[in-house]
Amino acid sequence: MLNDRYDNPLTTRSQSARDAYVEGVDSILSANGDGIGLLQGAVQADDSFALAHAALARALQISARGAEAVAAITKARALAAGISGRERGHINMLGHLIDGDGALAYAAALDHLAAFPRDALIAQPLTGVFGLIGFSGLSGREAEQLAFLAQLAPHYGEDWWFGTQFAFAQIEVGQADRALQTIECALERNPCSAHGAHVRAHIHYERGETEAGLAYLGEWRRDYQRRGVLYCHISWHVALWMLERGDAAAAWRIIDDCVRPGKVWGPPLNVLTDTASFLHRAELMGGAPQPERWREVSEFARQLFPKPGIAFADVHAALAHAMSGETDALAKLIAEPVGPAGEVVAALAQVFAAFARQDWTESIALLAPVMATHERIGGSRAQRDLLEFSLVAALLKAGRPDDARLTLISRRPKKVGARAVAGL
Ligand SMILES: [Fe+2]
Repeated sequence: MLNDRYDNPLTTRSQSARDAYVEGVDSILSANGDGIGLLQGAVQADDSFALAHAALARALQISARGAEAVAAITKARALAAGISGRERGHINMLGHLIDGDGALAYAAALDHLAAFPRDALIAQPLTGVFGLIGFSGLSGREAEQLAFLAQLAPHYGEDWWFGTQFAFAQIEVGQADRALQTIECALERNPCSAHGAHVRAHIHYERGETEAGLAYLGEWRRDYQRRGVLYCHISWHVALWMLERGDAAAAWRIIDDCVRPGKVWGPPLNVLTDTASFLHRAELMGGAPQPERWREVSEFARQLFPKPGIAFADVHAALAHAMSGETDALAKLIAEPVGPAGEVVAALAQVFAAFARQDWTESIALLAPVMATHERIGGSRAQRDLLEFSLVAALLKAGRPDDARLTLISRRPKKVGARAVAGL
């Protein structure tokens, strides 16, 4: 019997299919290499290998190739007759995920992991700030994320994938020292992992270490493939730090080359949110308004996210619509809240509308009540600094500099030195 890297038995007799599967799954878990190609190799070596078809479906879904993902999971489901209970549960959970039914996928994952805690590909969709917990729309989801992983921790020892995700959960609740220890251990075991480098970058960001973060991630990024799943987002982190240290021209070069729509491939969710976020934060830092760029992002959002429902995308779309004067698209997000955090999206869309017409009093009045639970929209603390710094900027522009300073130092004390808002 052949096993995966986590000692779970696999229904295949082909050693080469098994090896390609393990490498392909590691590619998903690390965001390195060509996971799709590896998993296609696994199913070529053994076309009856159900879990390889399922993992291929997951890799295709992550790469935003939805129709091919559906075809691959259909193939996996058709092979369910001759496989183990663990493998059937695995395909069932990934099937719900690829069908787009997050609630069913979440429930199936908890059930499955109770019996098979080391089925990493089933735990993985529940991790990270874009996962099923991250996008649950619930208040307190960062604590839930940490609790979920803490429960699994005894089953994973010093595994690099698990440590990476555990460190991310730790830093997002403010446990910087623990997170650093956890990520160092994970990176020791897999120094190339893009997810590992990304989490380490978040720790630098949360500790307010602009220079150290830039030195680390800027160097790391040189060897990372341009088509890597995290390339766009890692580039955003680097550009943001360049902006913080006052090198706007270099920052924009990175955005233009590696982040904005149509340049290098990236998951559409990252292209939209990272471009909108950078544009807004550059303006908060004193950069000139760039209506052409805003129009490009608004257009991208309307094309790639025509149906609202993913709060994190919708919030950034609303920002782009507001800043580019796309009032119809903006009004739609306000009038028809969709998804588990729909009302937060609607509230923030109104904030951005007030921001665009430079009504600072209204911006503050609408944004302040959202601050206590803005984790509901998903994304990392670093990403939601978009909202933290918007409030600080609005207070400053409304002629309330003491309130602006108090807000920043009480909510994001490590970011005081980041020059995040011009004129503070
Ligand atoms: Fe990030």
